[in-house]
Amino acid sequence: MTSGGYRAVDLIGRKRDGGELDAEALRWLVDGYLARRVTEGQMAALLMAGVLNGFTDAEARALTDALRHSGETLDLSELDGPVIDKHSTGGVGDDTTLIVSPLLAAAGAQVVKLSGRGLGHTGGTLDKLESIPGFRVDLSPDELRAVAADTGCVVAAQSERLVPGDRAIYALRDVTGTVGSRALIASSVMSKKLAGGADTIVLDVKCGDGAFMTTPEDARALAELCVEIGVEAGRRCTALVTAMDQPLGRSVGNALAVAGCVEAMSAPPSGRLAELALDLACHGLALARGGHPDATREELTRLWRDGAALERLAAMVAAQGGDPSVCDRPREVLAAAPVTREVSARDGGVVAAVPARGIGELAAGLGAGRTHEDDEVDPAVGLELRVEIGDRIERGAPLAVVHARTDAAADRAADELRRLVRVGPDDVPAPPTVLGRRADPR
Ligand code: URA
Repeated sequence: MTSGGYRAVDLIGRKRDGGELDAEALRWLVDGYLARRVTEGQMAALLMAGVLNGFTDAEARALTDALRHSGETLDLSELDGPVIDKHSTGGVGDDTTLIVSPLLAAAGAQVVKLSGRGLGHTGGTLDKLESIPGFRVDLSPDELRAVAADTGCVVAAQSERLVPGDRAIYALRDVTGTVGSRALIASSVMSKKLAGGADTIVLDVKCGDGAFMTTPEDARALAELCVEIGVEAGRRCTALVTAMDQPLGRSVGNALAVAGCVEAMSAPPSGRLAELALDLACHGLALARGGHPDATREELTRLWRDGAALERLAAMVAAQGGDPSVCDRPREVLAAAPVTREVSARDGGVVAAVPARGIGELAAGLGAGRTHEDDEVDPAVGLELRVEIGDRIERGAPLAVVHARTDAAADRAADELRRLVRVGPDDVPAPPTVLGRRADPR
């Protein structure tokens, strides 16, 4: 197809042969895909050529811009207080948004967040929130601003009007094996963050077996690129590089993740999910207000402990059409799977591995993720882990509870889980969660 002097087939050929695409060509491709002048097959071929041959950082910046301007951008100038956004590059049991957003709102910030759905083996915040009966993620720009002004936090989807280019390409990447590219992840994340209008952005760049960046070098490079793009656009931006070799939270699935977060917020912060949520909130608040992240920890811990953060979550759920009693009685309000199966350890010893990717694939296979773009996710299925790396367990101790649609699916998942979780004789230290930080250099 020809238009604007370009032919998609030529641009795909240029990427296939190791060439670079300029900003105008990338804009043409994104707009053309939305206008159906570029076909799904052509976009998939281009993405795969770029994943295999690499996109340059200049292409990442240009793609960010093309995606960001593929729809409207949010003007948040009428909101009071600092506006903070938070984003993770994707992991398993990676539920910090559900905690960080209301926690920051309780501290007086406004959190306006455009999120994504599950990608590959990773879970998606939107799928998790949609497991709350009635919860709407497709909000117009006016609705987004109104919810933020009312409750201090809002989490919504890319839409026809907001970053539609990322919405379309994100869904295609999910089912074409084209997620794992530094430039594609940076442009997808940062286009949403820049279109979302927040002045302060805190990023959680995942690293390890269950992340799209498996080595510390690649994760650091992704963090650096995202922070540079944010700073060049005039935003305050920081990134933590964090471990994703085992699931972060113990609940993997959609409704299970929501229940896990509500239960975590109903008790004093403890465990890896709570600690990282607190760290991310501390960095976001400190960057917005000025000062050291540690100086905000006491305040945020108090807001968590006294229930103010959970109240904000209930207010956000109600403002987005969901049933706020999910914050009092999550297990009664959320969909439950018909079959639950406890999986016990065949041997005693020390837990040496709980591989995040395998666990994420297992949950997706139970129905918590997608194989095709138009698949519905099953809100109720997934896993609740009972162990993490470094735990000493007896033979017969529970490793996890599987939540499944059928007995056969539960049996398959239980076998796979026993194969995945490695228990050995030697002590294994609990690994750190935060591996490093890439900060705004200004
Ligand atoms: N999160 C996003 O928004 N985009 C990606 O590509 C990966 C994680």
